[in-house]
Amino acid sequence: MSGQPVEDDELADPNKANAAPPAVVVLAAGGGTRMKSARSKLLHEIGGHSMLSYALAAATEIQPQHIVVVVGHQRDQVQAHLAEIAPHVRTAVQDQQLGTGHAVQCGLAALADLERLPSEIVVTYGDVPMLTSETLAALLADHRAQRAAVTVLTAVVADPTGYGRVVRDADGFLTHIVEHRDADEEIRAITEINSGIYVFDSAVLSAGLDQLGTDNAQGELYLTDVLSIARTSGRLVAGHVIADSWQTEGINDRIQLAAMNAEMNRRVLRRWMQAGVTILDPATTWVHASVDLAPDVTLLPGTSLEGATSVATGATIGPEVTLVDVEVGADATVIRSHGSLSVIGTGASVGPYAYLRPGTRLGAGGKIGTFVETKNARIADGAKVPHQTYVGDAEIGRSANIGAGVIFANYDGATKSTTVVGDCVFVGSNSVLAAPVRLGDGAFVAAGSTITGDVGPGDLGVARGQQRNIGGWVLRKRAGTKIATAAQQALDAQAAGTQENSSTEGSER
Ligand code: UD1
Ligand code: CA
Repeated sequence: MSGQPVEDDELADPNKANAAPPAVVVLAAGGGTRMKSARSKLLHEIGGHSMLSYALAAATEIQPQHIVVVVGHQRDQVQAHLAEIAPHVRTAVQDQQLGTGHAVQCGLAALADLERLPSEIVVTYGDVPMLTSETLAALLADHRAQRAAVTVLTAVVADPTGYGRVVRDADGFLTHIVEHRDADEEIRAITEINSGIYVFDSAVLSAGLDQLGTDNAQGELYLTDVLSIARTSGRLVAGHVIADSWQTEGINDRIQLAAMNAEMNRRVLRRWMQAGVTILDPATTWVHASVDLAPDVTLLPGTSLEGATSVATGATIGPEVTLVDVEVGADATVIRSHGSLSVIGTGASVGPYAYLRPGTRLGAGGKIGTFVETKNARIADGAKVPHQTYVGDAEIGRSANIGAGVIFANYDGATKSTTVVGDCVFVGSNSVLAAPVRLGDGAFVAAGSTITGDVGPGDLGVARGQQRNIGGWVLRKRAGTKIATAAQQALDAQAAGTQENSSTEGSER
């Protein structure tokens, strides 16, 4: 996930008393009804990771003392996912979603065992995936520099519908936030919105939460009311405006999910193009944030690179390639293929139409060609598997050549076994190598063989019926067909040719 770890001095407080790290409360109890999904909204993915994992990465990177995730809707799923991706967090259960203020109350309850509550509480949302730790660190630094009681992250947006509006006084100081549903026309015209991300002085927060009421359009406990309570008691409420409004965007439906995926991808591709990667068609190229690309890599249309995939310099991927957790060497080419958990060597070539399954390791200068499927296969430097072959559970030596249509039969219906092919071996087309079987270095297999026993170094393995031609069979058994006619014509021509030859010889006297 993106984002550099934040240096200590970036977070350092000008005012030493506040230098201890904050706690982060991540609100994630709300339902995701508009996703229309059996899966929790928070588990839906952007660039290969759940949206919740982005929120936790940003929170974790500012190195807080504690992170509390407030869960509610579909909490079994959310808690199971948290145990996997962020075992270091605490969870708090909010049984009924009575509002953001109530959610934070539940979050703080999960810190009640602490001897002292951290002096700052950062509040974020689990469904706002693009927020970065840099933004959180800047928000915290601003909060400390201004000695504010509350600092809220805001953005100016073209369409503020639905968001809480930021109300400022004549001097530009933030006074309060009004929810869209509670706002009149004048307030609704304000385009500065509340992101829902804040830093609170923890004493101000605790006191404010105690005073919340539900006298509003939704009958909820609004966290935003803590701001006006703080302001009324003479404390400074600061607004930290961010220009990149994507970082404040929440996701409520699959249309927003798609838009966020596209934006995340656009940013990743931009970064790689700036770093020297050629991307012919950014609209059809998808690269996860976890992927690593070298300068002078070329990505052709329809390429999708996922997980821990890395591509070394000079390699060309695409068109129409999906690689998941694949390491591609320098100057390699991969065309119209699918690969996962595999390694492609320097200068090697893959495709078109190859399927590299887990455990495929293709050596330098090697080839996995057209309509070839490989699984758990080590194919050494310079070895070639060019056409229509299945290579399952095999080791193929250096510079070996596997003919068209060869099958490495690794499964006898009960167990899977390995085939070992030595260096420079030549396997003729349409052969079956029935594992377990070993072909020594420099062995040769005749085309069409079904090899069930080892072939020694330099030996020829032939395992097929001897060819037998039955003279005149077509004329006898297929008389009157066009096959027979063709055969008869050829035989007549042959016979005439023989006669002509003998008559020429005869005239030479
Ligand atoms: C809230 C803010 C609004 C802001 C907007 C930004 C309040 C009263 N309003 O709007 O000013 O512009 O966020 O998106 O705070 N949640 C819980 N428990 C609850 C309610 C909400 O955990 O009881 C969580 C949700 O899962 C979500 C987040 O809090 O992650 C915000 O809830 P949501 O209902 O989307 O926001 P609003 O209250 O409409
Ligand atoms: Ca929302």
